[in-house]
Amino acid sequence: TDPSLIRNFCIIAHIDHGKSTLADRMLQLTGVVSAREMKAQYLDRMDIERERGITIKSQAVRMPWEADGTAYALNMIDTPGHVDFTYEVSRSLAACEGAILLVDAAQGIEAQTLANLYLAIEGDLTIIPVLNKIDLPNAQPEKYAAELANLIGCEPEEVLKVSGKTGEGVEALLDEVIKQLPAPVGEADAPARAMIFDSVYDTYRGVVTYVRVVDGKLEPRERIQMMSTGTTHELLEIGVSSPNPIPSKGLGVGEVGYLITGVKDVRQSKVGDTVTNSLKPATDSLGGYEEPKPMVFSGLYPLDGTDYPALRDALDKLQLNDAALIYEPETSVALGFGFRVGFLGLLHLEITRQRLESEFNLDLISTAPNVVYEVMGEDKQLITVTNPSEFPDGKILEVHEPMVAATILAPSEFIGVVMELCQSRRGTMRGMDYLSEDRVEMRYHLPLAEIVFDFFDQLKSRTRGYASLDWKADGEQVADLVKVDILLQGDTVDAFSAITHRDKAYSYGTMMTSKLRELIPRQQFEVPIQAAIGSRIIARENIRAIRKDVLAKCYGGDISRKRKLLEKQKEGKKRMKMVGRVEVPQEAFIAALSTD
Ligand code: GTP
Repeated sequence: TDPSLIRNFCIIAHIDHGKSTLADRMLQLTGVVSAREMKAQYLDRMDIERERGITIKSQAVRMPWEADGTAYALNMIDTPGHVDFTYEVSRSLAACEGAILLVDAAQGIEAQTLANLYLAIEGDLTIIPVLNKIDLPNAQPEKYAAELANLIGCEPEEVLKVSGKTGEGVEALLDEVIKQLPAPVGEADAPARAMIFDSVYDTYRGVVTYVRVVDGKLEPRERIQMMSTGTTHELLEIGVSSPNPIPSKGLGVGEVGYLITGVKDVRQSKVGDTVTNSLKPATDSLGGYEEPKPMVFSGLYPLDGTDYPALRDALDKLQLNDAALIYEPETSVALGFGFRVGFLGLLHLEITRQRLESEFNLDLISTAPNVVYEVMGEDKQLITVTNPSEFPDGKILEVHEPMVAATILAPSEFIGVVMELCQSRRGTMRGMDYLSEDRVEMRYHLPLAEIVFDFFDQLKSRTRGYASLDWKADGEQVADLVKVDILLQGDTVDAFSAITHRDKAYSYGTMMTSKLRELIPRQQFEVPIQAAIGSRIIARENIRAIRKDVLAKCYGGDISRKRKLLEKQKEGKKRMKMVGRVEVPQEAFIAALSTD
């Protein structure tokens, strides 16, 4: 295709502002999917996405559209909608010349929209501002058109108004995409350079890689090369999705499509990497490539120890489709054999856990998530700590913790409560701007550790659901952090060790010790439960001793009933864990780890 007849765009929207509905309507209007074929939310393939109503994996669709008698090809590139996937969003944006900024006409701009808009502006994309859901009775298109215009520096009249639901204004929007967005430019005769913006594992076809060609041409059967590693693959198939895959004779400048090489693992075809011809390779890659970096770690353990091999197999399978997922075996006194797993963020953790449970039928327990610390002990070496148990003993000279730049949008009446929350989480304000008379954008520098745990829930409940949050990694800081251990009769229970700020160590200690006192049954002897920083005890509870006799309940001679009880007790014993001399039902550990 002649590059001047191509337009590549994506849609930037907050969750629920109607991106999928609008995309569906476009697929229908351009005729690539008939109304009959149209499943609601066509682009969201994975069940879990549909279930949770979020888009995780991006994908591209080519649509024909005629304007002023000329036939154009529109490539719509889907972007993931959640903060954990910022890097994937940035690569999807980098594959486009322009973005539709889609905002719910009854809600206005939210933090995620803003964060992604900033990414798009940084990437020099042309922005088309659009208000959606104008069919809603409570839509306020005039108010929010002014807000949008103010934000991106255009006239309120230039803001398009559509309804993805009724289809109103959508044809006009497609015309504007052609009119306003620049056509892609690149060097047709140069060695090929194509950027990978998505990579998906398919059971039947292996990895399907989505690319945007910048220069040159990729053709079927040639050998291609991944520029980050130099590895080469034969290009078995190349084509475009519309939305079903259509093999083609090649992809040239400005085109968007898919590649199949037969590789079985998305880590061999990484988002952000540049693909070139192996015979005539480009010298410079397209830039912007980053290895996925796990930010949050958690231990994952099967409830039933015999499921350990099944958990390992399941993680192996998930990793084929998730380059950001990393894990290694770990053992815990309290929980047995499991894995320490690294995630991009809390949502990534939750999604992974849910997939392990629903797709692989595993019952899991996860330890409290923690971030990655750099710790310097007496030997002056900085070590990386992804698990509190790796925190060195003895004198600690320095602890570095990861920081984030957070953007919070809220109605101005909530400024006070948002500030209070951020301060209690050791945040520093970096700036505040009014988006309109009654809505503000607040920017904070916060420790990642303080927001991975229930920050978003707190923010939502304190602002009655009106605030929205986005964050990205932003360096690190030195902080006064300590490891708090929980001890049962003098023995550390590894799964409960936590790294906290010194000011919060005491509250963590008292919370855990009193929780465990409730949960652990009495033993034949007294059991002290302690919280400690190093050798210093900061909290203590006691479980008093009892003599238990299960048979005491059976007065009289019903021997079969007695046997049953004894068997039941044996059954129960299997799920007991020994911590030193103390017998603890696994359920107690699980209950203590659950947050509610
Ligand atoms: P994520 O995939 O979670 O990011 O959501 P989304 O932005 O794709 O939103 P989606 O298209 O799933 O729409 C969210 C809700 O808004 C759904 O209940 C839609 O039916 C509704 N909706 C979308 N567009 C319109 C519209 O133009 N008018 C009205 N009234 N409702 C709409």
